[in-house]
Amino acid sequence: MYEYQLHKKIDQGLEKAFLKIQSGHLSFYSRFIANISSINSLFHQLYSIDKNADVLFERLIETIIKAFTDRAEQLQQIDNAKIEKGNWFLSNDLAGMSLYVDRFSGTLKNLEEKLEYLDDLGVNVLHLMPLFESPDGESDGGYAVSDFRKIDKRFGTLSDLKNLRQKMREKNMFLMIDIVLNHTSHHHEWAEKAKAGDKKFQDFFYMYDDRNIPDEYDKTMPEIFPEAAPGNFTFVPECDKWVMTVFHNYQWDLNYANPEVLILMLENIFFYANLGVDILRIDAPAFIWKEPGTTSQNLPQAHTLLRLIKQCVQVATPGMALLGEAIVAPQAIIKYFGEGEYISQECDFAYNATQMALQWDALATGDTRVMLAAQHVLLQKPFGTSWITYTRCHDDIGLGYDDYMIEQAGFNAYEHRNFLKNYYSGSFTGSPSKGALFSYNPKTGDARISGTLASLCGLENAIDENNEEEITTSVNKILLMQSLSFFIGGLPMLFYGDELGYTNDYIYLTDDGKSYDNRWMHRPNIDWTKNKNIDVKGTVEERIFSGTKKLLSIRKKISEVADHSNLTWVTPHNIHVAGFIRSMKIKRLFCLYNFNDKPSFVTWYAFKENGFTHKLYDHWSGKNYAIGKDDEYLIIQPYEFCLLEEKIDP
Ligand code: GLC
Ligand code: GLC
Repeated sequence: MYEYQLHKKIDQGLEKAFLKIQSGHLSFYSRFIANISSINSLFHQLYSIDKNADVLFERLIETIIKAFTDRAEQLQQIDNAKIEKGNWFLSNDLAGMSLYVDRFSGTLKNLEEKLEYLDDLGVNVLHLMPLFESPDGESDGGYAVSDFRKIDKRFGTLSDLKNLRQKMREKNMFLMIDIVLNHTSHHHEWAEKAKAGDKKFQDFFYMYDDRNIPDEYDKTMPEIFPEAAPGNFTFVPECDKWVMTVFHNYQWDLNYANPEVLILMLENIFFYANLGVDILRIDAPAFIWKEPGTTSQNLPQAHTLLRLIKQCVQVATPGMALLGEAIVAPQAIIKYFGEGEYISQECDFAYNATQMALQWDALATGDTRVMLAAQHVLLQKPFGTSWITYTRCHDDIGLGYDDYMIEQAGFNAYEHRNFLKNYYSGSFTGSPSKGALFSYNPKTGDARISGTLASLCGLENAIDENNEEEITTSVNKILLMQSLSFFIGGLPMLFYGDELGYTNDYIYLTDDGKSYDNRWMHRPNIDWTKNKNIDVKGTVEERIFSGTKKLLSIRKKISEVADHSNLTWVTPHNIHVAGFIRSMKIKRLFCLYNFNDKPSFVTWYAFKENGFTHKLYDHWSGKNYAIGKDDEYLIIQPYEFCLLEEKIDP
């Protein structure tokens, strides 16, 4: 059907914006025409019952046009170059790091001086943790935003961010920031107006006169922070009402059943896009739609909203990719890449939270079978989308994979999870890990895990005991974990401090704004004097930094390791060893990871049955191998790994 009425709306909007169609704008116009029926249908699926739906739909069109007309010429050119390249974000050239600006460099201005350090490491995508204004002491690390447009004074100003962006561009670096879509701080202007009794703004949130509806919701909604913020509602004495607060009581959930909220937040999304953001991390998208009688997570309408946002971004600011931070069960994560007619048309990226947690599972047990049991789900990720792969981030590690995956490996799911929690919180005898349980829920027995990569890998303990052998073991564990996340496919995202082995920092316990949240133990303050050790041969910092740097440089040389949906898991005939092949055209890389505290033997047959018959070169150790007989073995040392490329004789 020719959608004349819809196309006319675009024409009228363009006329209002005085946008004459010139050759540079032609592609914007075609993108708009191509996407408008989807935008129309997604919008009306959510909002057709709203009495203002038609007026707000016109506002949506104007918002998209404004985003494009506001877009700097330079950014439009970058958009075109990215579109021309196609799936630019799948490249193996990209490697990222998440960091808190204040804890890493103090301010945005000072960060400019640290770009060299990041460049040297091999990092070219910077995820700057939330930068926008957030009340001190009630900020959840910046995830409680009181002004979506104003940089928090702790970090500097908007023009500092723009200057930094420009400096990053000169170094071919990409920028990732968050949009905290699900909630605002209770000090955001909308929340303040709601508190003061303004009905219009009360409708921006889930606000109720009494506990009736909140009680209904609470029956089926899980608690996210049961220790620090039990329940899902908070009483607001100023207006004598209850408001939904799924996370902390100072984070008020936005009500996306109200189309005006969507449009205003879309304007914020475009504001970020026009700052030159390359990847927008959509915080907590699983939570953005609520219905009583459900868990209010991963609801179909949340996906409809994300698809709508994706279509709008694709039209106005197509160079900005979307990352959905959905830390949910494996099958549920996959859905954030889009399904059915929206396959690869929702989020471009999602965190491979399942794989991340399963690496920790394998490291504790020395057994890779649970990891293997999950792969049939993870491999369903559609082509043209990408994982973010990682070992640690600013959040806790949740053991959110399915029980059947654990059972398939022959373990009892309940006992297995208990073991992992005890192992990483250090209460399991003989465990070298020093982490802590996060958000323990006595009602369900659930808990997640906090701690830095280094402390969880035993480095803190080994240093405390001054045990050289254990230090070496933990350095090997750190590199094993990083290597797996760098080569499995996706955009690797390091967490600052992990590149040189920062252990837990317990100073947060002395700060009232943080002491209730032990995730702060793994969010270090960078000490640049300590960082100088990366130049001193043989120090722990140098060993971890140079290993990480080497891994990133190997990764940049091998295009097969980007997320091209070219991953094949294999069985190395040894439960301690994880193995997969990355292949494209004729080049093939066989990656093997030994999670055992003893040497592991891998029969050469494992290679032959996968068609490897030639010589092998290990990019990591620099060794060459000739494939031997079936009853001979490749021997991999404890917590070592191989990145073997087949060398085909000319
Ligand atoms: C996301 C963030 C987390 C925060 C939560 C609430 O999950 O990663 O740090 O606590 O959202 O905004
Ligand atoms: C929950 C959320 C996740 C968030 C985390 C913060 O697990 O699902 O989005 O990162 O809480 O701890």
